[in-house]
Order: sequence, then C-alpha cells, then structure tokens
Amino acid sequence: MKALVFHGPGDRQWETVPDAGIQDPTDVVVRIDSSTICGTDLHILKGDVPAVKPGTVLGHEAVGTVVETGSAVTTLAPDDRVLVSCITSCGRCRFCKEGHYGLCVGGGGWIFGHLIDGLQAEYARVPFADTSVHKIPKELTDEQVLFLADILPTAYEVGVLNGGVGPGDTVAVVGAGPIGLAAIMTAKLFSPARIIAVDLADARLDRALEFGADKVVNNGVEDGLERVKEWTGGLGADVAIEAVGVPATFELCTEIVRPGGRVANVGVHGHPATLHLETLWIRDVTITTGLVDTFTTPRLLDLIAAGRLDPIPFATHRFDLDATMEAYDVFGDAATTNALKVVLSAEPVEAELPKDAVHAGAVAS
Ligand SMILES: NC(=O)c1ccc[n+]([C@@H]2O[C@H](COP(=O)([O-])OP(=O)(O)OC[C@H]3O[C@@H](n4cnc5c(N)ncnc54)[C@H](O)[C@@H]3O)[C@@H](O)[C@H]2O)c1
Ligand SMILES: [Zn+2]
Ligand SMILES: [Zn+2]
Repeated sequence: MKALVFHGPGDRQWETVPDAGIQDPTDVVVRIDSSTICGTDLHILKGDVPAVKPGTVLGHEAVGTVVETGSAVTTLAPDDRVLVSCITSCGRCRFCKEGHYGLCVGGGGWIFGHLIDGLQAEYARVPFADTSVHKIPKELTDEQVLFLADILPTAYEVGVLNGGVGPGDTVAVVGAGPIGLAAIMTAKLFSPARIIAVDLADARLDRALEFGADKVVNNGVEDGLERVKEWTGGLGADVAIEAVGVPATFELCTEIVRPGGRVANVGVHGHPATLHLETLWIRDVTITTGLVDTFTTPRLLDLIAAGRLDPIPFATHRFDLDATMEAYDVFGDAATTNALKVVLSAEPVEAELPKDAVHAGAVAS
C-alpha cells in the first residue's frame, strides 16, 4: 500500500510500505476514504515532536471503511463507514473511564501518526476499535464528518467548554486558523453576545467574519488589548481562547480577559510563556489547558446531522490521496494559498473547486 512516510525533519515521501494488518484482537483495518493534514503534522516535519520516529506514517484524521476486524471486535464489521479520530481510547484505564481519552494510559490517546503509523495512507490499522471509532450515518458525506477527527472537538472542548462560554458572554479568540475558526463556530452554540477574533493576517480575519465573528482586530496593526477594552466597556472579554501557541498570544489572553474571566489555552506551546501573577493574582482569573479528549464527538456529529453545524467551509482544497505530497506544499504555505484544511480523497477528486480555492494545483490527478 502507499502512505505518507516521515523520514526525519524536512523529509517526507509518498511511498510503498507494508500493508496494514491486524496485530491485536481489538484492532480493525480501515481503508482510508478521506484524510487531511493538521498543523501538528507540520510541527512533526520541523522536528518539534521527537517522539515521532523516522519511518512513521503521518496523519491522525480520517474517514474510512472497515475491511478487516480482529477476533475481539464486537461492534464493527466489514463495510462499516467510520470516523477515525485523532484520539484512541483503550476504554479500560482510569482516564478513559472518566472520559479523558486524551490522557489514556492503556495504550491509546494521541497515537496515530505519532507513536504508531497514521492515517495519510491507503489503509490503516486502528487499535481499540470498538471504543475508538465512530460509525457515520449514511446521510452524511465524508467531508461533513472529517473535521470531527480533530479541529472541531479540540476547539469545542479545550476552548469553548473549558472557557465556560455562556449566553451573553464576550468571547475573544486569539488566532483565526482552523482551530480558532472552529472555536468561533462552536462558541456560537452558546449565544455569546459578541465574538472578537484577533490575528495578524487580514485573510484569516476575513474568514473569522464568515465563520461568525462579530468584530476583528489585526494586532499587528492595532493594539488588540485596547480594541477589546473599547468593545467591552473597559472591562475585557469574559472568555479569551488562545488558539496560536506562542508566548505573546498567551500573555495577550491574560490581559484581554476581564476580572473574574476565563482564559482557555488551546495552542500547543514550544516555549515558556510568562504568567504575570503580579497582576493576575488580584483579578480572579481562571486559566485552563488541555489536550482534546474527543468525548464530545458524538454530540458534534449529531449537531452536523441536524444541520446546526456546517464544517464544509473548512475544506478549501481537495486532492487525490496519491497527491498528498502536493497537498502538504499547499497546506504548508497557507499565507500564499489561504488553505484552511485540505481534503485527501481516495476517490478521484471532481474538477470542481470551492469558491475560494486559489491554488491552481488544488485538483490534482
Ligand atoms: N490542545 C489541543 O489538543 C490541540 C489540538 C490541535 C491543535 N492545537 C494547537 O492549536 C493551535 C492552533 O492551530 P491551527 O491549526 O489553527 O494553527 P494555525 O497556525 O493554522 O493558525 C494560527 C493562527 O494564529 C495567527 N497568529 C500567529 N501569531 C499571532 C499573534 N502574535 N497574534 C495573533 N494571531 C497570531 C496566525 O496568523 C494564524 O492565523 C496550534 O498551536 C496547534 O498546535 C492544539
Ligand atoms: Zn491535529
Ligand atoms: Zn485508556
């Protein structure tokens, strides 16, 4: 089979690898129908995630069809269409029993494209299949559910729910990439009074308005703190969601939040950020961090099925699965291509582009 293999920092290849097969009785093998690329894959390619060993197949987001089941699998059968999410759950450890699948200590958690071979491939082995995959209702397309594999539950759980977004809140989302935009989309489920998006890129702020932000500020041009204060009667935001992952944006979140407010950090940080306790101690601010657990995936799937959430606008570019190398180039150059999420399809991609797919090579084949 073919797969996208990590060969060390800066080195990736779409190449032939041994076929995925059952190793444990709780495994299934899935034919990948649709997959996508995450910013975390770019971090891996930069060498930021040393746990990923050269030779690993990348990818942790996919929709696929079960082709083989291990002897202990009881709820899945060949031909079942499933969402394979970034988080795997052993179903037995203390954290899995509490719904904290991201913290699984029984062999699950974030393993695809990290500790085991991932999902940017023609086939993949899926461990702990009964307790990890989600069956997909027939009426939903691959693209409608694909982004439930990571960005939607991440933004919803680690941003919106940890931040305690409620009716009437002012929510400031710092960073308007896929995660920030998904936070805007899912914050709206709680009827906040206003959502403010903060980013350095005007193109991303335009997307934020399309995804439901009420106000935007380019903090490379204007003072983000001053604008948020101006829009909140001088108080600051009830909830600040950090969706970038650099010290400056975490610190900005702790400044733009009102006294008594909540900072929900979603960004993956590679460097220490300063926690200004000398100003925060007196302001009753709550700060949360987290890795996605994906306990809300069934709820989000139901919201999509009910037409309350529409994830399709995240799909800016579509490629055939065997054009994954080119898809990485486009996704990795988002400043030029305006890519949000690329969809990799096993079925040949139709020669139709979403209105804003700007890259001429976006339909490969
Ligand atoms: N906690 C989790 O479980 C989890 C899961 C997935 C991703 N993440 C993390 O979430 C973060 C966001 O992911 P993404 O895919 O949307 O990333 P992205 O890089 O596509 O988007 C980040 C956005 O932040 C903006 N930005 C950069 N510096 C800024 C600054 N100083 N001020 C304001 N905006 C700035 C960029 O212009 C960009 O639009 C990343 O750190 C990612 O690793 C966390
Ligand atoms: Zn991811
Ligand atoms: Zn577990």
